Amino acid sequence: MGLHTKLRVDLRQIDREMKRIVKYDKDVPKDSELERSLLKTIEAGGKRLRPMLVLVGSRFGDRKDDSRIVQLAAAAEFIHTASLIHDDLIDRSPLRRGEPSLHTLIGPANALYVGNYMSARVVELLAQVEEPDGSEQQQPFTAVATAELCLGEYEQLEHAYDYDLGLDDYLLKSRRKTAHLMAVSLEFGARAGGAPEELCRRLYRFGEHLGLSFQIRDDLLDFTASAKQLGKPSGSDLLGGQVTLPVLYALEDPQLAAEIRTVGPDTSPAELRPLLDKIRVSGALERAERFCDAELESAREIARSLSPYAAHADLLTLADELGGRKF
Ligand code: IPE
Ligand code: IPE
Ligand code: MG
Ligand code: MG
Repeated sequence: MGLHTKLRVDLRQIDREMKRIVKYDKDVPKDSELERSLLKTIEAGGKRLRPMLVLVGSRFGDRKDDSRIVQLAAAAEFIHTASLIHDDLIDRSPLRRGEPSLHTLIGPANALYVGNYMSARVVELLAQVEEPDGSEQQQPFTAVATAELCLGEYEQLEHAYDYDLGLDDYLLKSRRKTAHLMAVSLEFGARAGGAPEELCRRLYRFGEHLGLSFQIRDDLLDFTASAKQLGKPSGSDLLGGQVTLPVLYALEDPQLAAEIRTVGPDTSPAELRPLLDKIRVSGALERAERFCDAELESAREIARSLSPYAAHADLLTLADELGGRKF
């Protein structure tokens, strides 16, 4: 059973809303390359995790204004998708979601603007959405969601091939680029649903733990999943200079560290293969896995503390599902 079924989320409603945002935008010319790129990107799918988090968050309140919540859910996915377009562009990644990535189809400059459009359009859209009580939004979701993400991606670039990266730097970067958007999706979903502030903030903390575990698992998959599952060669992160948690642990072994430090922009995938195998058997993966599990357990603790709310069961479902994620 898919996660959306377990969470009773109608994904078609989210996709309809995303397409509606594109189709009703008078600035996007009909049948243009921009429109086609946007619709193709939406149709390429993805797990739609952030919209699900918005909807689950909204269940902690008693407001049932679905259209506003669905708009927020679509906005979260727009921001996420834009970040992936930019991420693939920067990483020169040829594939995304099993399909050619956008920049390989329409060129880097055009892909850059499609990504920019996706994150900017929703700012405008949500700015028009007033709070149900008529007040202005205190903190716009889009700004809160996007700024940290960009900082995280920036830090990632800044630290490419930086083998002196500390654990704290890795955690900060991962929280910013991944966990924060997941956390604010829950938080703002709850706020839109009318949940009290203290609860919204607790949901943020749940989302932050969940999101960090999600990024660590994604980083582990670079070592454990097949190229077919990943949609890119395994070891791509290390080859691209990303010092992830398994690499940080492997760097503690002086012999492995000496080898890892030779990896640079000119290293070939074939050269990297023996090193990947050594990292796989070094125990570094298991340590990263334990870190990931501890984050999930912190998330579950928060979920359990919310047991008076029926929706806490959905948080536990999310933690179980992401904990068992294989690719
Ligand atoms: C991929 O996110 C990027 C990371 C944060 C690791 P997802 O795995 O949620 O991507 P899609 O949307 O399902 O393709
Ligand atoms: C997530 O990190 C990217 C963003 C949050 C923008 P990754 O770089 O690990 O994502 P994948 O592995 O390319 O999907
Ligand atoms: Mg990437
Ligand atoms: Mg990754």
